[in-house]
Amino acid sequence: MSEAIEFDEKTARETEVLYLTPDIVAARRRVLDMLAVARGERIADIGSGPGLLAQEIAAAVGPRGCVEGVDISAPMVALARRRCANLAHVAFHDGDATALPWPDAGFDAAVSTQVYEYVPDLAQAFAELCRVLRPGGRALIMATNADSLILASPAPALSRRILDAWRAHCPHPDLPRRISPLLRGAGLDIRARDSFTLLDADFSRDRFAWHYLRSISAYAARQGRIEKAEGKAWIAELQDLAVDGGFFFSLNRYLFVAERPTA
Ligand SMILES: C[S@@+](CC[C@H](N)C(=O)[O-])C[C@H]1O[C@@H](n2cnc3c(N)ncnc32)[C@H](O)[C@@H]1O
Repeated sequence: MSEAIEFDEKTARETEVLYLTPDIVAARRRVLDMLAVARGERIADIGSGPGLLAQEIAAAVGPRGCVEGVDISAPMVALARRRCANLAHVAFHDGDATALPWPDAGFDAAVSTQVYEYVPDLAQAFAELCRVLRPGGRALIMATNADSLILASPAPALSRRILDAWRAHCPHPDLPRRISPLLRGAGLDIRARDSFTLLDADFSRDRFAWHYLRSISAYAARQGRIEKAEGKAWIAELQDLAVDGGFFFSLNRYLFVAERPTA
């Protein structure tokens, strides 16, 4: 079985549920604050997924602006089109971050959240990102560093096996730590960096950690790195820990704002 996650229909639906949790709603708010979209701007959303961010950007740019999304997953594009069906200034395309379906210099800004971790050829993807921005245009990239996870666990050895297995779910699990020279190599100037912590001490059903930890243990079982029963026992132990008030989950996402130089 391939190790990289495929955003098929099931994964697309799961991602949508995960991205509606209050943790990710707050992360999107941070992205929007940092992107500082103005009315009338033209914005690209690379790896637009279920279209939640594009929908919010559309409200910020207003009908005189536009939002164009692209995604390699047809089920994701379908979800995004459904979500934004009543927004005439939003469009979604099937396509790859390494071959964007747009002419040169057409956007005031581009955003890409939780996507470049999954793109094998980053040099090509960032060259494309730079190409579609107008001179002076900005890009906001958010990515998770897998190693930033801190988890209180009654079964640390099993936790280690699951987290080690999860590192293979994408080609660049530690992208934030390596991204700066890659962006500069593509001709972009880095203007700002920030971090956003997904923090949970409850492990309740409506939160990110609940879905995320289930999803990574299921992945480790699918890859044959743990037994399915071990994954279930791991989650049950984390639930017991939460009941006792000892649950702790913290995972960092990192935000980078880069700019295409004017000359
Ligand atoms: C974790 S989801 C994030 C979705 C969205 N950016 C968000 O934050 O709501 C990752 C998305 O990246 C897309 N993706 C992965 N590789 C891609 C590529 N090479 N080109 C375009 N999209 C890609 C996936 O299909 C998926 O929709």
